[in-house]
Amino acid sequence: MSDVTSSVKFMTRVIFNTATTLNGFLADDEDSLSWLFAVPGAESAENDFGSFLEGIGSLVMGSTTYEWILEHEKLPEHPDRWAYASTPSFVFSSRTLPAVEGADIRFRSGELTAAWEEIRDAAGGRDVWVVGGGDLVGQFTDAGLLDEIRVSVAPVTLVSGRALLPRRLESDRLRLESVRQAGQFAELVYSVRPA
Ligand SMILES: NC(=O)c1ccc[n+]([C@@H]2O[C@H](COP(=O)([O-])OP(=O)(O)OC[C@H]3O[C@@H](n4cnc5c(N)ncnc54)[C@H](OP(=O)(O)O)[C@@H]3O)[C@@H](O)[C@H]2O)c1
Repeated sequence: MSDVTSSVKFMTRVIFNTATTLNGFLADDEDSLSWLFAVPGAESAENDFGSFLEGIGSLVMGSTTYEWILEHEKLPEHPDRWAYASTPSFVFSSRTLPAVEGADIRFRSGELTAAWEEIRDAAGGRDVWVVGGGDLVGQFTDAGLLDEIRVSVAPVTLVSGRALLPRRLESDRLRLESVRQAGQFAELVYSVRPA
């Protein structure tokens, strides 16, 4: 029994999967994604996301990302629009934020490592999706917990905005595993090696 448990834990990988501008921004300075939705075919690329989500057991995001979803989807009035109903979702914030009715959202703050076992166990042997933002992904990187970076690069550049991953990782840590064209997006998958 304990062998099964440890092999299940071993299988869980932590994946940062996101869209990004060509020059490494997740959002503009006003936290807008209008540049992303303006890309021709952006909606069908979003549909492809379904198969990725099937492998995800829990997800993690920071408060700016959560508040963006709350506002964009008008979740207080339409809680059914939360797309991850049955997936345990961890939101990091030092503040008290509104919950979404019927959603399994767990608010946490402080050291990521203190919440890690709960996040991993909640994934039930499937993978953990780190939604963003960049510094939270950096916290996973700092703790040696990030296994994969999967970016869909949009044909967009911005002067400034929210950084994709504000950490220094060089080629001894990142290995390009695959490249795929999805319409106007280039999907790049990198494995992350331990420091
Ligand atoms: N392009 C895409 O597909 C994509 C994907 C993801 C996100 N985004 C966008 O990118 C932007 C990212 O925003 P962001 O860079 O501000 O990052 P974020 O991770 O969404 O939010 C950062 C905030 O989370 C809280 N937080 C983070 N770690 C914490 C910890 N360990 N303990 C307690 N609180 C913690 C802090 O705020 P408080 O403590 O004040 O709450 C922090 O300021 C958003 O606009 C989002 O919508 C885009």
